[in-house]
Amino acid sequence: MLMFPEIRMRRLRKGKIRNLVRENLLSLDDLVHPIFVDETIEDIQEISSMPGVYRFPLSEVAKEAREVTELGIPAVILFGIPGHKDAEGSSAYGEHDVIQEAVRRIKAEVGDELVVITDICMCEYTDHGHCGIVDFAAEEVLNDPTLEILGKIAVSHARAGADMVAPSGMMDGMVGAIRRTLDEHGFETLPIMSYAAKFHSSFYGPFREAADSGYSFGDRSSYQMDPANSDEALREAALDVAEGADILMVKPALPYLDIVYRVKHELEMPTAAYAVSGEYAMLKAAAANGWLDEEKTVYEALLSIKRAGADIIITYFAKDIARRLR
Ligand code: PBG
Repeated sequence: MLMFPEIRMRRLRKGKIRNLVRENLLSLDDLVHPIFVDETIEDIQEISSMPGVYRFPLSEVAKEAREVTELGIPAVILFGIPGHKDAEGSSAYGEHDVIQEAVRRIKAEVGDELVVITDICMCEYTDHGHCGIVDFAAEEVLNDPTLEILGKIAVSHARAGADMVAPSGMMDGMVGAIRRTLDEHGFETLPIMSYAAKFHSSFYGPFREAADSGYSFGDRSSYQMDPANSDEALREAALDVAEGADILMVKPALPYLDIVYRVKHELEMPTAAYAVSGEYAMLKAAAANGWLDEEKTVYEALLSIKRAGADIIITYFAKDIARRLR
């Protein structure tokens, strides 16, 4: 094997040669921009733990979608904050509930110029804040009764015009249940992006403020994955493929790049990574203190997610990156 001085790695690191041998690029087409839609507000509200990220009233979502489209971002994912919460999350699937209205308004504004993905979960709609139906006596989140509701939510989003649904509740069998229900209602061509490996992560902290989805007892460790595990993530992902998932998501992203890598390379499916609220807050806070160069670190962080194997990156920095890439 040739070694130094015949081999000099630095030969390819100068000037335009460096660009020629670059292996990965972040592109606008990789990005999904999250939007929080709040039925209870009249004006746009900044989320204090996520400076630069806002909750939008229904009256402002179309404008935001237009702006995102003009920036060249191909997709948004919607999260709803409903006016009413109860134990069954009944305001998650009504024809005129917050997400259904938001989807219609966005679609009326931008049509097929923007892919509208909807998050399918109950935690923003339940008064106890858990991602499913709860047995209060046992303080347990019930799997199978939750599936039926997830199917209803998916169909209601599809009817409103959503282009893709993204179940995030980590219930067993959720992808299969949603696939069957969508098919029964004539939505067999609507893709499912599954939160296949979603970890029980402390990096979701700021999201709970953003989406008003903190919980009243316990935590989510009985359904979200143990951060210590990676083989289990592969089993989760493989099950979702078997149940009909079209895209697999890993979440969070930066602290879980090994999972992104394994899911992409072992399952060979379109793979998404969700750079979550805590990842955003962390970079923003350091940048605000002048400790990190925001533009450069954000680009590097997202590029790393790409390099690990993600085809799609869901990030609160999507608009910033889009402005920079243009
Ligand atoms: C809801 C949901 C959560 C996130 C996306 N969907 C929160 C949670 O599971 O607690 C987190 C997103 C983020 O932190 O940016 N199930």
